[in-house]
Amino acid sequence: MTKIVDLHCHILPYVDDGALRCEESDELLEMLFQQGVRVLCATPHLRKGMFETPDEEIQAQFADLLKRADRLGERMTLLLSREYHCDDLFRERLEAGNVLCMGAGNTVLMEFSSRHTFEDILSWVEGVRQRGYSPLIAHIERYPALNGSPEKVSALIQSGAKIQMNAGSILGREGFRQALWSKRLLKKSLVHVVASDSHDPELRPPELDACMKVLRKIVGSDDAMALLRDNPIKILSRIEGDSPLCKQSG
Ligand SMILES: [Fe+2]
Repeated sequence: MTKIVDLHCHILPYVDDGALRCEESDELLEMLFQQGVRVLCATPHLRKGMFETPDEEIQAQFADLLKRADRLGERMTLLLSREYHCDDLFRERLEAGNVLCMGAGNTVLMEFSSRHTFEDILSWVEGVRQRGYSPLIAHIERYPALNGSPEKVSALIQSGAKIQMNAGSILGREGFRQALWSKRLLKKSLVHVVASDSHDPELRPPELDACMKVLRKIVGSDDAMALLRDNPIKILSRIEGDSPLCKQSG
């Protein structure tokens, strides 16, 4: 079984629009395990006015998930971070140094809305870096401000951002146009990480095994493994030790 590292999922129940109940969370965990995931980072939303579950509550749910995960025969490493929407709440957290990074590294997963302009996104990337964090931009393929412009994505990478793409987008779950745009970015080596961003077993399930097959066709086996394992491990480097260099590093 191929080891996959999933850096973006909403497996914790009761905290955002991810798993509704423990049963759904367990089912999601089993699916991810069956698909080859051996390192999983739970990333519940933090977004002002929408998902404001405090870290303490998130941590309690995560502790509960760790207990429930013991039933898996083979060990899966579970980690906790958050998906930070770029808004005033995240700005406050950054200013207070109160940010849950990925693994033992300094990477933060950050998402934007359809209202953010390219200049906004660039400014956030620079601001986050100035605070000493490494920005990982969630589901790059979704933002209208970047759509159709690999040059803008490249500029974000030049400014220090790492780029995450959703497996579902590559598989066409968000429509034909988004799949085409995703493949274009992949072929231009403008993506560092592919993750599930799974929310539940049915409507937004993890499809990482199917995605692996498609990725192999788009970018080849070595880069597919870089996107689904090697680069995520590098992001979590202090957990996994020194890791192979990014192949899809732009
Ligand atoms: Fe997400």
